[in-house]
Amino acid sequence: MKRKKNSWPKPRLLFAVVVAIIGGFLFGYYTGVISGALIFLTPVFHLSSAGQGLVVSIVLIGAMIGALSGGVLADRMGRKWAMVIMACLFLVGGMVMVLAKTYEVLLLGRFLSGVGAGLTSLVTPLYLAEVSPPHYRGAFVSSYQLAVTVGILSAFLVNFLFAPTGDWRWMFGVGIFPALLLLIGLFWVLETPPWLLAHGKGEKAVEVMKSFQNDREWKGVLPSMKKKIEPHKKGEWRALFQRKFRPILLIGLILSACQQITGINAVIYYAPMIFTFAGFASTTGAILASVGLGIMNVIATLFSMWLLDHAGRRRLLLIGVAGMGLSLGVLSLAFFFHAGWTDWISVVSLVVFVASFAIGLGPVTWVVVSEIYPMKIRAKGMTVAMFTNWLSNFLVSLTFLNLVSFLGKGKVFLLFGLLGIGAFFFIFRWIPETKGRSLEEIETEEV
Ligand code: BGC
Repeated sequence: MKRKKNSWPKPRLLFAVVVAIIGGFLFGYYTGVISGALIFLTPVFHLSSAGQGLVVSIVLIGAMIGALSGGVLADRMGRKWAMVIMACLFLVGGMVMVLAKTYEVLLLGRFLSGVGAGLTSLVTPLYLAEVSPPHYRGAFVSSYQLAVTVGILSAFLVNFLFAPTGDWRWMFGVGIFPALLLLIGLFWVLETPPWLLAHGKGEKAVEVMKSFQNDREWKGVLPSMKKKIEPHKKGEWRALFQRKFRPILLIGLILSACQQITGINAVIYYAPMIFTFAGFASTTGAILASVGLGIMNVIATLFSMWLLDHAGRRRLLLIGVAGMGLSLGVLSLAFFFHAGWTDWISVVSLVVFVASFAIGLGPVTWVVVSEIYPMKIRAKGMTVAMFTNWLSNFLVSLTFLNLVSFLGKGKVFLLFGLLGIGAFFFIFRWIPETKGRSLEEIETEEV
């Protein structure tokens, strides 16, 4: 197959992408770091298991609030200023956690960084989709997911590093540095052209397009962008529920839920525990095996980024979900027939599971959700999708351990596997292929 040569992205655009995805890194870092910090926090603050549960899940509650407010902020203040608020939340949240003397203050810090993570999940992919030329959009938006996975892996490594001294304050504190970097970097980041056009700043929009894309690219998309984008009006939430938008609203919402209900965070948040269930005798061995999963998550995401703009969104989603369903089936069988080899089968199936997620539902969900909505309802549609994503994440993480003791491990993984099969059929029937088309073309053809 002969590929058309695309021009290399301009440095100004690459800089904006690199700065924006630091938000993804912080999201991954603060959701991942708690698994290690929790062990040391528990005796300091005399936490009961309910207290432990709250310190873990309050981030997800904050994230739901962040996702809900993200659409309004991104539409009113602009994508860039919404990112500035998100950087401040991460920065202040990190500092509060480092200095926390009481449990309540610690919860406040976790909550603030959660609101930051919720905002990020909406604003960063939105920003990336709106500044990317069509042929790089898959790679740029999925670089956000790459940053999330690097954030998670860094958190696992930092936990490992500080574990001998039990310094939980530094486990949280390390996140302050990237948050500061994000805030400083944002001073040089430009607003997106679609937002500028919708807010009557046409000249500024052209200026930004010139510094982000070469002449052929921006001249090609500007006319249709001008034609498609309507001036922004306050309080247009009702538009979201118009009959013509209902199908894409549902598609975004269901895809976002699928990313979570197929079990990824049961694995990411509880991996060492699952490995112990499977028969690993040493905790260090189980923690190290989890670091291995984190590494696989990064590698497979890189692979997916490389493929996305050639193989297309649908194909990667379908292959990824099929791999997830298959590996969950094998894992549940291993638990049903618990035998001497269950520990190794669990390692292999969890590695395949994480790799399959990282090829499909991990990055592609962000890409599809940021490109299927027309400009008029884009931020609002993403709000609904991202809220659903965090809510499903919250429900899965909250119920996983109870489900395990109620149903047994084999049945819980079988349940995730069955949900994966459901996701496969949903994607096959409903997800459109958006590879290589401009957001305006997608808007015309989809609605
Ligand atoms: C999901 C997170 C998950 C992470 C794992 C993200 O796309 O939204 O919930 O922890 O991927 O890599």
